[in-house]
Amino acid sequence: MADDAGERQPAPMEAGGRYNDHSHHQATGGAFGLPMIAPAFASMAPSGPVVLADYGCAQGRNSLRPLAEALARTRALIGAEPAISVVHVDQPANDFAALFLLLRDDGESYLRADANVFASAVGRSHFDQVLPSGSVDFGWSSFAAHWLSAAPVTDAGHVWPHLADPAVEQRFAAQAAEDWRRFLASRARELKPGGALVVVQPCLGEGVATTFPVLMDWTQQALEAMEREGMLTTAERRRMTLLVYERRLDELRAPFASGAFAGLEMVAEEARPMPDPFWPAYRADSDAEALAGRHLGFFRAPFMPSLIAALDPARDAAFRTAFAARLESELHARMLAAPQPLLEPMTIHSALLRKVG
Ligand SMILES: C[S@@+](CC[C@H](N)C(=O)[O-])C[C@H]1O[C@@H](n2cnc3c(N)ncnc32)[C@H](O)[C@@H]1O
Repeated sequence: MADDAGERQPAPMEAGGRYNDHSHHQATGGAFGLPMIAPAFASMAPSGPVVLADYGCAQGRNSLRPLAEALARTRALIGAEPAISVVHVDQPANDFAALFLLLRDDGESYLRADANVFASAVGRSHFDQVLPSGSVDFGWSSFAAHWLSAAPVTDAGHVWPHLADPAVEQRFAAQAAEDWRRFLASRARELKPGGALVVVQPCLGEGVATTFPVLMDWTQQALEAMEREGMLTTAERRRMTLLVYERRLDELRAPFASGAFAGLEMVAEEARPMPDPFWPAYRADSDAEALAGRHLGFFRAPFMPSLIAALDPARDAAFRTAFAARLESELHARMLAAPQPLLEPMTIHSALLRKVG
């Protein structure tokens, strides 16, 4: 294990709008947080320019429902006239073009429903303050806060931090603890007094050691096979670690152990298991090919760009394509041989946080 603090950062989601097309799992999980939007607005009295922020927006499809709900709640409080600003935040390399095309063209876009709503974007890490102090009325963040700010070690040796050696996993836990505090402190600075934030993220339920145990074990096996055959160097394979760490419940609650943290109170929280959303269709039709297609789409859209980014910089585009195709074909074969609910166990943590004041 070598130190690498701050060097390697998560790659954005698969571009060309493909994350939008393959993020049904995240949409299902994000919906667990929707019931917290009404209470978020219950005691709010927006004044001045109204700003809603969406942290870790990706290409936007899964933000449409929560933002439509938040906009409806805002209109109920301020009436039809005042303008409302919606700011989508993601990493600089995010596919913001897909986001803005969706906002222009999709029938579900909030821009189509209200001519006095204005969308913009910020391409910066949400682990820093990215909007002016005291400017945000409501923030939403779904399936983004468990992506780490950077790799805590160069060669974690396993693709999935929760399945790495305990000493390595511990380094990821420390990074996740620091990142969670940074995320919360940054939002606390941005929120207006009385403003609210809903954060939805996958976490580890009681007694659960990892999410995706089978899928990530298969991925590791496939990468190790490519290394044995000489397709990947050992260094490439060892740094292929997805910078994702699902926190345990006590880790999520830790900043609030003595009450408010950085001026944010945790008003409500819920941790609820989420079954694999693709499994019921397979139970009904026994179509293993269709199930594998959905599971592969789930894997590819968020994770493949990060694995490709860990390849040696000298690798050309043809090699990168061949690597992705080989990994997909390895996973596909295993999925067809043993259809199962690969996206379990998964627990979704939803938190409603309010800026004291
Ligand atoms: C799995 S996607 C979730 C997208 C969407 N919110 C949803 O619910 O489907 C995670 C998103 O978080 C973004 N992200 C990860 N780290 C980030 C950071 N430090 N700052 C801003 N966005 C980040 C990724 O680029 C990606 O678009």
